[in-house]
Amino acid sequence: MQMVIGRGTFYSYVRAAKQVLADNWAGHFTKPSSSLYPHQWNWDSGFIAIGYAHYNAQRAKTEIRSLFQGQWENGMLPHIVFDTQSLGHYFPEPDFWQTPDGRPTSGITMPPLHATACLHIYDASRNKNDAMDFLEEMFPRLLASHRYFYSCRDPNHEGLAYIRHPWESGMDNSPAWDEPLQIIAVDKNQLPAYQRKDLEHGVSREQRPTDEDYDRFVYLIDLFRKLKYEEKKIYRECPFLVQDILLNSILCKANLDLLQIASLLGKDTIQIEQWHAATSASIRDKLWCPRCQKFESFDLIANSHIHTATASSFMPLYAKAATKDQAALIYRKINSVSFCALRQGNCFTVPNYDMTRKDYSASNYWRGPVWININWMISQGLRSYGYKEKADSMNSDMIQLPVRFGFHEYFDSRTGRGYGSDNFSWTAALFLDLVYDFYERQGTGRIGRGQQRKLNQTHILNKGQPSGQIEQGELGQLVLSSIKELQSQFYNPIRGVVDYGNLRDSSQYRRYRDLVKELITFDLTALREEARKKAFWINIYNAIIIQGIIELNIRRSVREIKDFFGTVAYLIGGLVFTPEQMEHGILRANRRPPYKLLPLFVIRDARRRYSLADVDPRIHFALVCGSRSCAPIRFYEPGQIDQQLDIAADNFINSSEVIILPEKNKILLSEIFKWYQRDFGGKRNTLNFILKYRVKDDAWYYLKKNIDRIKVEYLYYDWNLNR
Ligand code: GLC
Repeated sequence: MQMVIGRGTFYSYVRAAKQVLADNWAGHFTKPSSSLYPHQWNWDSGFIAIGYAHYNAQRAKTEIRSLFQGQWENGMLPHIVFDTQSLGHYFPEPDFWQTPDGRPTSGITMPPLHATACLHIYDASRNKNDAMDFLEEMFPRLLASHRYFYSCRDPNHEGLAYIRHPWESGMDNSPAWDEPLQIIAVDKNQLPAYQRKDLEHGVSREQRPTDEDYDRFVYLIDLFRKLKYEEKKIYRECPFLVQDILLNSILCKANLDLLQIASLLGKDTIQIEQWHAATSASIRDKLWCPRCQKFESFDLIANSHIHTATASSFMPLYAKAATKDQAALIYRKINSVSFCALRQGNCFTVPNYDMTRKDYSASNYWRGPVWININWMISQGLRSYGYKEKADSMNSDMIQLPVRFGFHEYFDSRTGRGYGSDNFSWTAALFLDLVYDFYERQGTGRIGRGQQRKLNQTHILNKGQPSGQIEQGELGQLVLSSIKELQSQFYNPIRGVVDYGNLRDSSQYRRYRDLVKELITFDLTALREEARKKAFWINIYNAIIIQGIIELNIRRSVREIKDFFGTVAYLIGGLVFTPEQMEHGILRANRRPPYKLLPLFVIRDARRRYSLADVDPRIHFALVCGSRSCAPIRFYEPGQIDQQLDIAADNFINSSEVIILPEKNKILLSEIFKWYQRDFGGKRNTLNFILKYRVKDDAWYYLKKNIDRIKVEYLYYDWNLNR
């Protein structure tokens, strides 16, 4: 399958994301969202600066500097720095917090993402001198903010900081806090009067914390201000003290980034190394619950782990603190139906809370929906432990969700629908980070500046002298067996990656290369039945892509080569076949490619007689392109090809490439269904095709009933090669 890069389309989303940040820009910082959150939030600013770093270094720096204006004497970076120009629309504001020196900030902190953000700013910067000056300026403040956690929030020197308010975790109403908060019996008469403002901005009550939650949130703040924010007293009296897995994992990763900053600046690193060693060891040991085989936060009041099932427990991957064995166990959880498994279909990965639990909520804030910032970190963690396919699939969802449903605060893991505030800054910023990173990893440089290698002419990959020693009758079968062997040895179906390094040097690959040379004299008429032809060409197509990647020394993606699919080729039976010609000329019965005016084989083209008689649209789900939505590499057997293609279609149609939204009378489809609409028999038959494979749930019945009136929308489709 040829990947068509929707750069043009994509640009418009990049512009839209930048517009969200521009609209939320408040002069010296960026509001998380213009209505619900009108001030500067601590970790939001970290994420936001990471987005800016790619295209506006100045703004990224201003964002961070502005936040640090609110830093306390003891090093604490408050969770909110208030914009005194826009008071009155949020609760609680400075009048309620009553900070010791009257600073317009809150009196609690948040996960320290800022060393990480500063390092991003440095990495993305084109002017490294300026960037070094910025690091020099920030270093003492970053150091102080980390020291705060170790000197004020870790009284027993365990390397783990405690949080003393759920908001400090960033996951305000996470199910993890249900139990620890239970013990706080709030006496309404003692509670200071307050009025919630979060329900005044059009976000429905079901998506927000309950009033009981809020009473406890307020109770804790009231306690802190009564104790004049003296940490030792708070530690003694506060009924909520938790060594949160999320905050400590972010701290652990930020220590690693701070270490890098210190090294760049030539500063002493010993202290940071000690912090890092202590935190990563304690995450690994104390926060690991051996009985449950997962990481869990630790409740210092109850003196026990908090048994729950939120996405926080995957964060030690991001911290790089988990052992390999722990990582493997985490992976099993992430990639299960609880958190939306690969190719499970009908879900976006990963939701913030186990979807199979009774109290999972599709729309309530931190009690179920997908959050881009959490997933952005988990996906990096997965990648660093080698779980690339899952990481790619998460990135794909993080890009698809805002493209499909808008730059929302959080998303429904089943339907993708956006909730909370719209035009949410970190969703836009991290979308930009992922998109820039994607293009950079593709080796095409910054967006809009292609740096592709161009091959001057058709690049025949099986050039050479055939030995002629193999019986014609056996050749086809031998080549296919060789492909099958390569796939079974070097393709990891769990991770979805091809081990190109070992494949390149293997005896199996040498044998394959020798065998494909024999194809030069192969008698194509030997492939008589359609099933045989189909299996042969699908397998050959998938194999030539692998060989092309190896021979052309492609590092990240076939897009490093201009027109890869139309330039690499095999000589088969004396005729040249590029992957493009295999796909459109042969497998699609010489139908016109979607982006060309004419079929590839003109009337007198000798290759035409080998075309399939008709198009089987299921082939679109069998040709390898490596995207989340593509079928995994699979070997197609002539005798079973029908069932195998059914499985490929079934996987695709029950994935998030097909989303039915009954409430909007809309169906969202991968662009494949647009480009190849004719192969599916036109618009209506495309929907019938979908009905044939789709699981029969409520959405299926809706589609069936409304097939003639449902609105069809197509979505950007594009993704990376599996490697
Ligand atoms: C909510 C979120 C928190 C975020 C803040 C501003 O309070 O729970 O994580 O920082 O909104 O976006």
